[in-house]
Amino acid sequence: MGLSIGDTAPDFEAETTEGRISFHDWIGDAWTVLFSHPKDFTPVCTTELGYMAKIKPEFDRRGVRVIGLSVDPVDRHGEWAKDIEETQGHAPNYPIISDADFNVSKLYGMLPASTSGDPLERTPADNQTVRNVFVIGPDKKVKLILVYPMTTGRNFDEVLRVIDSLQLTANHRVSTPAQWRSGDDVIISGSVSNDEAREIFGEWDEPRPYIRIVPQPGVKIPL
Ligand code: BEZ
Repeated sequence: MGLSIGDTAPDFEAETTEGRISFHDWIGDAWTVLFSHPKDFTPVCTTELGYMAKIKPEFDRRGVRVIGLSVDPVDRHGEWAKDIEETQGHAPNYPIISDADFNVSKLYGMLPASTSGDPLERTPADNQTVRNVFVIGPDKKVKLILVYPMTTGRNFDEVLRVIDSLQLTANHRVSTPAQWRSGDDVIISGSVSNDEAREIFGEWDEPRPYIRIVPQPGVKIPL
């Protein structure tokens, strides 16, 4: 069985570009984004790591820690970081895990348990399934898993949008509709009775009895 939403994010120890970490200790009580890469010096991933560095302040202001991963030794990550800075205008400003022994990729269901050998002898295509985004909550549970093909660069604005929804819905009994962005109206959770809803929200619009719409409670975070 692979990893699912609601599972505890597997703990591990690993070398990173900012030293050795024990993952759960590193998370602490923060929200965390772990995004993975099949190999260093790959073109799409180079753009992704640079873009993530550029918008990292947006993750910071939401209290979200960011960590990358690539299936290569840590000294190669250092060389790749120079290329990322020169070509994308932003050097990684977050740690990048060296998953040269495939341990994290296997724990997170991105590579088969049978994977072994010298990571330098593997091609990017061999590791192409290592292109995920995991959002992990302060409770260490997996909240979101996005899986990307090697030919499509990730949309980190969407990751921020989902984090805004996750953080809102962790604190208020609401859900967010299609295309929602922070500040838009939200839907009262189905588990809230009308009597409770009157106490919590006062009034709501109701195009159907099961769609109860209210203004977003809490803090609005314009992108
Ligand atoms: C990339 O361009 O980042 C890439 C290439 C091949 C496999 C995976 C990623």
